[in-house]
Amino acid sequence: MAHLPRHIAIIMDGNGRWAKRRALPRTAGHKVGAEVFRTIATYCKDLGIEYLTVYAFSTENWKRPKDEVDTIMGLLKRYLLEAIDTMARDNIRLRFLGDLSALPEELQQLTARTNAITETLDGFQANICLNYGGRDEILRAARAFAADCAAGKRRPEELDEELFASELSSAGLPDPDLIIRPGGEKRVSNFLLWQGAYAEFLFTDTLWPDFRKEDLDAALVEYQRRHRRYGGI
Ligand code: IPE
Ligand code: IPE
Ligand code: MG
Repeated sequence: MAHLPRHIAIIMDGNGRWAKRRALPRTAGHKVGAEVFRTIATYCKDLGIEYLTVYAFSTENWKRPKDEVDTIMGLLKRYLLEAIDTMARDNIRLRFLGDLSALPEELQQLTARTNAITETLDGFQANICLNYGGRDEILRAARAFAADCAAGKRRPEELDEELFASELSSAGLPDPDLIIRPGGEKRVSNFLLWQGAYAEFLFTDTLWPDFRKEDLDAALVEYQRRHRRYGGI
């Protein structure tokens, strides 16, 4: 396929509604959603996409009932344990974006282990946003820079877009070209606020657990029709 995005981002939304329609507990939707992530990540890799970034848990998702949050953390743990065994074989690099310090201790250790394996691999990379909030990461970057200034290591005039971006959890990644939101909502919900400045957005009513390779194909066809002007003419 010609003219593919280098970096695709997805807000994996609609798990709860998918489950509700089947009279299942919301957590059943999260389980299927995790499988869909696996399928779509592999598909992106096969297509030759360089980066896939998915929104798995936002800084606001802690507001949910404790049992739902616990189930999501449990699924992540299971996913990471499997990934640690298979990522080298499948050559899928995993990186975690967001404030990981607030995650359960065990998950922090597992993310550190996957990050270490990622360092040894090359090729396709999937970024999983966990306890991620666009505002939160911008605030943390601003705080880190302010602290460097206060310590005399930096001067305020030195701050430019490149330096600021290097303080974000996405440091080193190209900006997303295409942001897809399944699940029917037409909002950003605090996802990649800085990085998505010139991303193409695509909204679809398909719920994330129903999202298939064909839905990604359709999104890519739509992307190829778009004209990105970046403020030019
Ligand atoms: C997205 O699906 C997964 C997370 C936010 C963790 P939701 O759980 O938000 O599903 P809906 O939007 O309620 O259907
Ligand atoms: C966004 O979905 C976060 C993730 C998919 C992880 P939400 O379901 O939390 O977003 P809102 O509440 O509908 O804006
Ligand atoms: Mg939702």
